Amino acid sequence: MTIKQIEKLKTPRFIQQIEFTLKPLEFLERCAKDYGDLFFTNSFGELELLVVSNPQDLQELFNPTNKILDAPATVNEPFKPQVGENSLIVQDGERHQRLRRLIMPPFHGEQMLNYGQQICDITQQAIQHLKVGQTFIARHLTEDITMTIILKIVFGIDQESRFEQLKNLMTTWLSLTSSPLIASALLLPSLRKDLGAWSPWGRYLRKRQQINENLMAQILERRQQVQGQHFDILSMLIEAKYEDGQSLSDVELRDNLLTLLNAGHDTTATALAWALYWIHQQPQVYEKLLHELQGLNTPDPLKITQLPYLTAVCQETLRIYPVVPSTFPRVTIRPVNLRGYHVTCGTFVVPSIYLTHRREDLYPQPDKFQPERFLNRKYSPYEFWPFGAGSRQCLGQVFALFEMKLILATILLNSKLKLEEKAPVTPARRGFLMAPKGGVKMSSMAVENLLLLGERL
Ligand code: HEM
Repeated sequence: MTIKQIEKLKTPRFIQQIEFTLKPLEFLERCAKDYGDLFFTNSFGELELLVVSNPQDLQELFNPTNKILDAPATVNEPFKPQVGENSLIVQDGERHQRLRRLIMPPFHGEQMLNYGQQICDITQQAIQHLKVGQTFIARHLTEDITMTIILKIVFGIDQESRFEQLKNLMTTWLSLTSSPLIASALLLPSLRKDLGAWSPWGRYLRKRQQINENLMAQILERRQQVQGQHFDILSMLIEAKYEDGQSLSDVELRDNLLTLLNAGHDTTATALAWALYWIHQQPQVYEKLLHELQGLNTPDPLKITQLPYLTAVCQETLRIYPVVPSTFPRVTIRPVNLRGYHVTCGTFVVPSIYLTHRREDLYPQPDKFQPERFLNRKYSPYEFWPFGAGSRQCLGQVFALFEMKLILATILLNSKLKLEEKAPVTPARRGFLMAPKGGVKMSSMAVENLLLLGERL
């Protein structure tokens, strides 16, 4: 069989980098159109990266029995100041897998049922602050909800004063990281200079220190409390044991709580802002969804999460603009043949979720929001994969979908919102995410006859 050569982009590196920085999605789409399903780019920095998006190639690469890809921690170094030395994200190999096995259980199966009602209650409280007729930004509402969920359900904070203090600290700290200066310092260690409390990096470090102190106080307090009386994720992590009987130390707990916050708060809030946008942009989607929700005559959160149309709406939201457009980079640890193209050992690979989700052969009219496609066809884990794949696949994916469905159901059943955007909302870079530009302007309308199931949610 003749070996085909994978093409490198012909445009100079700095042009690729500018194009990728300014318009990442358009850049990827143009490359895929001009170069096909596999191409090398220099757009992400010094490294030459292979962009992959064909489901057949993804299946070959991620197949667990082939062991072709490694997920090295070195590429995640920039996250270290944000999540700490002991974070799951900056481990690799066996240590990473051991830690994953330990952290995973509270995010799956029956454990989830403990959080359902709490998620609905937190959402109810947040929407009560919406004033009829007043414009608000959907992403601010969803950020508030997902932050509260992480602090209460994951960190287990039930003391009102600590909750308020940590919420304010976290919000300021996370907003600092979205400033271009701090984002650049995270990528370039030479820019990390502590020039006092008023310098950007100095401010970042001091906020981080305050967060550390608060989290440590929470961890120590939980350790002293009676086991088995709390159902938050921190309590479960305190009790979790490795195969050799060891448990997580305080700093390991702290760094991994911060990891869960960083990985799980903004992602879910962004996905929800997109969902609210699409649902209210298309009246037929809104009507169909509300009809399905109102037809469910039980307030059981589990039943809500099993509704087919609600599930399809969440899937289509995560398909059309996946909030994380590509997975963490990977590296090949052996040569591999992808549909006749030879890929050498040691190649850096960036699997593109966005490009897979925009394939016309899988998703006819890919730029149209059509939840029905998920009712009419079953997609494979390499055709629809908003949570990545392989050894670093999103640890919180079941939790994220559970959250999304319950939050949307509670909002739709207990409020009436109106989209206040005159033009179609487009995606814009928000750190590593692709978020709706401007956060989606909406307003709240008077609620009439809506409280059928919602009264009990
Ligand atoms: C809609 C919401 C979310 C989306 C779209 C999303 C997407 C992703 C993606 C694409 C990855 C990288 C996968 C890879 O490289 O193959 C990832 C990793 C991760 N996600 Fe999520 N995520 C979401 C919500 C959450 C939540 C709620 C949590 C936890 C509370 C979470 C925790 C994590 C962690 C810990 C990792 C790193 C896993 C590792 O290194 O082993 N995510 N997520």
